[in-house]
Amino acid sequence: MKKKKKLYEGKAKVLYTTEKANQVIQHFKDEATAFNAKKKEVIEGKGVLNNFLSEFFMEKLNNVGIATHLIKRLNMREQLIEKCEIIPLEVVVRNIAAGSLSKRLGIEEGTRLPRPLVEFYFKNDELNDPLVTENQIATFEWASEAELGEMFELALRTNDFLSGLMSGVNLTLVDFKIEIGRALRYSGDKLLIADEISPDTCRLWDTTTKERLDKDVFRLEQGSLSEAYTEVASRFDLLPRNVKSVVK
Ligand code: TMP
Ligand code: ASP
Repeated sequence: MKKKKKLYEGKAKVLYTTEKANQVIQHFKDEATAFNAKKKEVIEGKGVLNNFLSEFFMEKLNNVGIATHLIKRLNMREQLIEKCEIIPLEVVVRNIAAGSLSKRLGIEEGTRLPRPLVEFYFKNDELNDPLVTENQIATFEWASEAELGEMFELALRTNDFLSGLMSGVNLTLVDFKIEIGRALRYSGDKLLIADEISPDTCRLWDTTTKERLDKDVFRLEQGSLSEAYTEVASRFDLLPRNVKSVVK
C-alpha cells in the first residue's frame, strides 16, 4: 500500500491517504510533547517503539473482539489503519489516582480507586482539552447517547483486557487514554478504537518497584524515555531486531 498525500499532521503522528478511500497510513514520529506541546523534544526511536507497541496492543484487542482501527503494521514506523471520523473526546480510564485526577481532587498519587473511573475530555488544544460531563457531550452533540454508552463499554472492556495483559509482565496499568472513531467503511455506524495505545497514552508502573515506564518520565524529567519504552517493549518481547540502530 502506497502513501498518497498528507491528510493530517499531529504532535506525534502523520496520516496519509492511500489508493483506498477507507484506509489510511499512520506514521509515528519521534517527537515527544507534553503539557499541550509546551514541552517538546525529539527522542530517537520513540516512533518505532510506539508503532510496535500500539500494533501489539491493538492486535490483541482485535483478537478478543474489541474492534480497533488497526489493519496491519507496514514497516518500522507505519501502519495501515481504517479511516475514521474521530469523536472529539479523549476517553480516560483510571484504576489508580495519578496525574490530573490527583491534582484536581487532592487524591494521593498511588491510591487505588474503588472501581475504574471513566472520564471524557473535549479534544481541543486551544482550550487545553477540558474535562466535560456526559450532559455537555449530549448537548453539544459530540456523540449520540448510544455512542456514549458504547464508549463507556469499550473503555471498560479495554481496561480489563489491558490491565490483565500488563500484569502478565509485572506492569500496573494506572490509567490510559483512548480515542474512538466512527469507521468510514461502515458509514460511521461502527465505533473503533483509533489513534494509538502506547506508553505515550498510558501510565504504566512496574508493579514491584513502582518505577514509571511511560511518558511521565518525560513530563516530570525523571529519566530516559527511550529506556523506559524499550523496557516495556522488551517485556512483551517486541524489540525489533535492529532496535539498537533506532533507539539510543
Ligand atoms: P492525566 O492524568 O494527565 O489527565 O492523564 C490521564 C491519562 O491520559 C494518562 O495515561 C496520560 C493520558 N494522556 C494522553 O494520552 N494525552 C494527553 O494529552 C493527556 C493530558 C493525557
Ligand atoms: N499529548 C499532550 C501534548 O502533547 C499532553 C500530554 O501527553 O501530556 O502536549
